[in-house]
Amino acid sequence: MTDEQERVQPSGVWATSVGVARVRALESEREDALFRDPLARAFAAAGGLWPSSPPPDDEAARRRRLAVSFSIVIRTRFLDDLLQQACASGVRQVVLLGAGMDSRAFRMDWPQGTRLFEVDTAAPLDFKASVLRQERAVAHCERTTVAVDLREDWPRALAAAGHDPAAPTVWIAEGLLIYLPEDAVELLLARISTQSAPGSRMGLTLGSRGVLERFAADAAPGSAASMWVSEMPDDPVDWLAGHGWEAASHTLHERAAAYGRPISTPPQHEERPGGLISAIRR
Ligand SMILES: C[S@@+](CC[C@H](N)C(=O)[O-])C[C@H]1O[C@@H](n2cnc3c(N)ncnc32)[C@H](O)[C@@H]1O
Repeated sequence: MTDEQERVQPSGVWATSVGVARVRALESEREDALFRDPLARAFAAAGGLWPSSPPPDDEAARRRRLAVSFSIVIRTRFLDDLLQQACASGVRQVVLLGAGMDSRAFRMDWPQGTRLFEVDTAAPLDFKASVLRQERAVAHCERTTVAVDLREDWPRALAAAGHDPAAPTVWIAEGLLIYLPEDAVELLLARISTQSAPGSRMGLTLGSRGVLERFAADAAPGSAASMWVSEMPDDPVDWLAGHGWEAASHTLHERAAAYGRPISTPPQHEERPGGLISAIRR
């Protein structure tokens, strides 16, 4: 059987990662793209999301889809920049938690000696591997996948895959924490922190306050928003300080304006800071 015939189709929470790829593929086609992700389209197509479906007729659903796509584009660029800054500071270990169809190992330039770990469950990593084979993709760094559920003992699996907690790491949790209940988020943060040597860095995206009510409450069954369960704490900077991190928080709108992509309509709700987090371990 060919890769295509054997490929497991997206389902449950990991299907959301293929939806993210669809958004990145659309962004990559723009002349003024904030990043280019040449593999995104192949991931979306393999998951049946390309060509991209037309926007929903329902105005509220259309607005929600636009808002989610916008946030994915801005956060991708934010974390690309954060990773470049981490490399410039000398960090050579990268861990993508809930990596999904993240193709940064293939689309970014990495300093020599960079080791990048992609952590997710087995099904999305298998799906991804089959698309990468089909596309003959070649990583620009030493890339290792770690198939483990992040609610289990993932630090042990990561260490077994070669991660060195004595050397600084840059951690990315992009579009992940919103799918984990608060106690699992807390445990994840505590575990990241014990694996982080001084000089480590972290980039997080957090569900803004009120997002569950505005999006998840009337989300279509099986949609990404229907699986959202957690929002950011009241004061994310203070929360991270408690875990030993010096953090800064940014809003989507502020970052979007900085990237020359301000949204044309004013936000329909007050956007509190804290959706996008950068942090350094002292
Ligand atoms: C919205 S996708 C984001 C993927 C990727 N970070 C990106 O931005 O392209 C969420 C990802 O988190 C992963 N995920 C959610 N819960 C997880 C868990 N308990 N253990 C491991 N991965 C998980 C899913 O499999 C999925 O790939």
